[in-house]
Amino acid sequence: MLDKKNILIGVTGGIAAYKVVEVASRLKKSGANVRVMMTLAATEFISPRTFEEITGNAAFVEMFGDAAHFHVAHVALADFADMILIAPATANFLAKAAHGIADDLLTTTILASDKPLLIAPSMNTKMFLNPATQENLKILKSRGVKVLEPASGELACGTVGKGRLPEPAEICAAVEKFFAAGNLSGKKILVTAGGTVEAIDPVRYIGNRSSGRMGYEIAKAAANAGAEVILISGKSELEPPNDLKIFVKVESALEMRAAVLKEFDSVDAVIMSAAVADYRVKNPAAQKIKKSSDTLTLELVKNPDILKELGGLKKNQVLVGFAAETQNVLDYASKKLVEKNLDFIVANDVTAAGAGFGTSTNIASIIRRGGQVENFPKMSKTELAEKIVERVAKLLDADKKFSPANVNQ
Ligand code: C5P
Repeated sequence: MLDKKNILIGVTGGIAAYKVVEVASRLKKSGANVRVMMTLAATEFISPRTFEEITGNAAFVEMFGDAAHFHVAHVALADFADMILIAPATANFLAKAAHGIADDLLTTTILASDKPLLIAPSMNTKMFLNPATQENLKILKSRGVKVLEPASGELACGTVGKGRLPEPAEICAAVEKFFAAGNLSGKKILVTAGGTVEAIDPVRYIGNRSSGRMGYEIAKAAANAGAEVILISGKSELEPPNDLKIFVKVESALEMRAAVLKEFDSVDAVIMSAAVADYRVKNPAAQKIKKSSDTLTLELVKNPDILKELGGLKKNQVLVGFAAETQNVLDYASKKLVEKNLDFIVANDVTAAGAGFGTSTNIASIIRRGGQVENFPKMSKTELAEKIVERVAKLLDADKKFSPANVNQ
C-alpha cells in the first residue's frame, strides 16, 4: 500500500516523540520513503540521529543549517511529500499551524505546502481541552486537515485523561487509510444528497424517506481525500460537512437539475446519491387546498432524469449513480448503469435490515461497466462512502495516465 509513497513526518516537542521512531520504522518497512523534520524542542526528547538511522535520510531541524542537503529546505521538503504527518503535534504547533505562523523549518514547511496533512495531537488533558486548542483544531479541520484523536489513559505528566499519542500501529493504519482513500487533491467532485420535495400547495409536498446521510458521508470522504467538493442537497436534517467548497440546498428535482447543470462542466466527477422524485405535481396549487371533497386527484408529470442527462453530456467526467431497489437489485441496477452511461452504480436493497434510507449502515454492491460486481458486507455509511470515493479516485487517476494530454509528459 505504501510502496514508494513519500511521507514527511514532522516531530514536535512532546514526550511521545519517542513513539514516532517506531512509526517511521513501520512506514519505511511498508515501502514508503520517509523523511523527518523536527522542531528544536523535539530534539530535547529524541535525537535527529535516531531518525536518520531509521529512515536512511537526513533529519531536518534548522531552517538554515541543512543547506547541503536541500537548496531551499522547506520548499523541497514540501515538494517531496505525498502527505505530511505531524506526530506528536503539540498545542503550540496546532496554534501556529492554525494561524499561519512560520518561525522554524517545520512550521514554514507546513505553510509552504498544499499537501494533505494528518496530525496526531498529544498533550496534557487540560491543554487539549482548553478552548484555545479546541478552536485551533476546529480551524485546521475546517481546512481539510485530518486529525487523529488522541487516546485516553495515563499521561506522562502523571494525570489520567485524553491526550495520549495513539499507538504507532494505529498512526500507521491512519496513514494507510489516507492512501487507500486515494488522493483527490486538485479534483472537483460534485455530490448530490437527500430527497427532493415536490410541492402540492404552499404547505404540502410529496417527498421520500432519504435522510441524506449517504451523500453527506460521500461529500465528507471526498473532502478528506483532498477534493474540492460541491454538495447539492435536497431535504436533509443533517449539518453539512464544514470543509465543502460549495453547499447548495434545493427543494425540487427541477431546482436540483438546474444546480447540477450549472456546475457540471467544471467538475471531474459526479456522485449522484440524491433520491430524486420521479414525478412532480403538474399544477401545484397557489393557495392551500381545502378539504372540501372526499377524494382528491393530483396529476403528476415525469421529472427529468438528471443523471441520464449528465450521461448524455459527459466528456471526461466520472459518473456514479445509485440504485435503491426493493427487488431484482442487481438486474435493475445493471440496466440503469447502461441507460444512464455511468462508470459505476451503487446498488442496494432498501428493504434489507441495516440498509437503505435513514439507517447509519448500508449493504451495497458496486457494478461497473463490463459487468464486474463487488458485493460489500454490511458497513457504516462512512466506510461505504470511503470505498466509493476510493474507486472514483482510481478511475480519475487512470484517466489522467491515459489521457492524450499526458502522452508527451
Ligand atoms: O432510475 P432511478 O431513479 O432508480 O435512478 C437512480 C439514480 O438516478 C440515482 O443516482 C439518482 O440520484 C438518479 N436520478 C436522477 N434524476 C431522477 C431520478 C433519479 O438523477 N429524476
